[in-house]
Amino acid sequence: MVRLIIETPSGSYPVVIGSNINRELRGAVARLDPTSAAIVTDSNVLPLAKKVARTIKRAGVKTPIHVIRPGERSKSLGAAGDVLNFLERQKVDRAGCVIAVGGGTVGDIAGFAGAIWQRGVRVVQVPTTLLAMVDSSIGGKTGVNGLRSKNAIGAFWQPTAVVADLAWLETLPPLSYRDAFAEVVKYAVAMDHGLFELLLKARERLLERDPVALERVVFQCVMAKALVVAKDERERGPRAILNYGHTAGHALEAASRFRISHGRAVAFGMRVAARIALSMDLCGKRLVESQDAMLTAYGLPDRPPRVGMARVLAAIPRDKKARRGKVAWVMPRRLGHAEPGHAVPAAIVRRVLRKALA
Ligand SMILES: NC(=O)c1ccc[n+]([C@@H]2O[C@H](COP(=O)([O-])OP(=O)(O)OC[C@H]3O[C@@H](n4cnc5c(N)ncnc54)[C@H](O)[C@@H]3O)[C@@H](O)[C@H]2O)c1
Repeated sequence: MVRLIIETPSGSYPVVIGSNINRELRGAVARLDPTSAAIVTDSNVLPLAKKVARTIKRAGVKTPIHVIRPGERSKSLGAAGDVLNFLERQKVDRAGCVIAVGGGTVGDIAGFAGAIWQRGVRVVQVPTTLLAMVDSSIGGKTGVNGLRSKNAIGAFWQPTAVVADLAWLETLPPLSYRDAFAEVVKYAVAMDHGLFELLLKARERLLERDPVALERVVFQCVMAKALVVAKDERERGPRAILNYGHTAGHALEAASRFRISHGRAVAFGMRVAARIALSMDLCGKRLVESQDAMLTAYGLPDRPPRVGMARVLAAIPRDKKARRGKVAWVMPRRLGHAEPGHAVPAAIVRRVLRKALA
């Protein structure tokens, strides 16, 4: 089991990562000494949420459970409203807390409801997907989708504690597990060469969901994210590095009308970004090849997605992080180090995309 403290300007919080760590979960909630608490989960994760409720009950805290429908379509203002109504019915007051048990969807909705209920109550994140463990439960971005735009409505609201029990990944569908490795490889290429080496060495154990290997990987990813969040809680500068692979990735996702999963799209986006960096002499060929091999080794496809180039190109300037249509790309320089803020000539983007989609 590992424990770390994430420091941000708006407060610090513990993250515990390990297997079968009920005791830590109980301790984390008991330390908050909440007057009342409520769990938010989705119907696929309900069995785990019930276990969490039993664990917490032993700390003397009763936790009624609100269940949302699984999937991205639930990430709506309506669903957040239902959570708020539930918190009101359960009389969760300002000294109470919200416990999110689920993947990034549940974490984002419950975190957002927690951020605005009573102008903010404490939120404990209990991530149950690999993506939520390495990414969404950390950093304090919460929110729901607008009618047409993803994550358009939200708040920065740091959790009070994060407890990631790796044993819960056993039931995660293979696709969701594999997809999360796109983000893991992202941290490795953009920020952490040691993680890259670890991914090479422990591939088989990781694909078999070995908890010991997973503990190291989740820890390294959380550390990488924590470092940038500590410097830039509200995404005004350095946090942009986390967007590596997401410029072309988001464009592909949108151009495919979300038929292509986020992880697969980000993997494609990283392949594109590295090739752009190579053609601008910002990195060497070995980086492109090592990253390709790593993505393929973790089951992220190297076949070109079947999406028209014009649609992908049109979606790039709509990137949320673009300013007045100017896109700032994150470019890898060497394994473990990327740089945000690069302007890329349109002709290079077009040339690389044409090849990547051929
Ligand atoms: N806030 C952030 O910083 C941040 C960062 C990255 C992604 N996100 C958001 O996260 C969301 C995606 O999160 P996700 O990939 O975790 O998807 P998800 O939460 O939708 O979960 C994927 C599926 O797995 C199921 N599931 C979850 N845990 C399970 C388990 N242990 N066993 C069996 N089934 C389980 C869920 O019910 C769901 O059907 C997106 O909405 C994205 O925008 C947020």
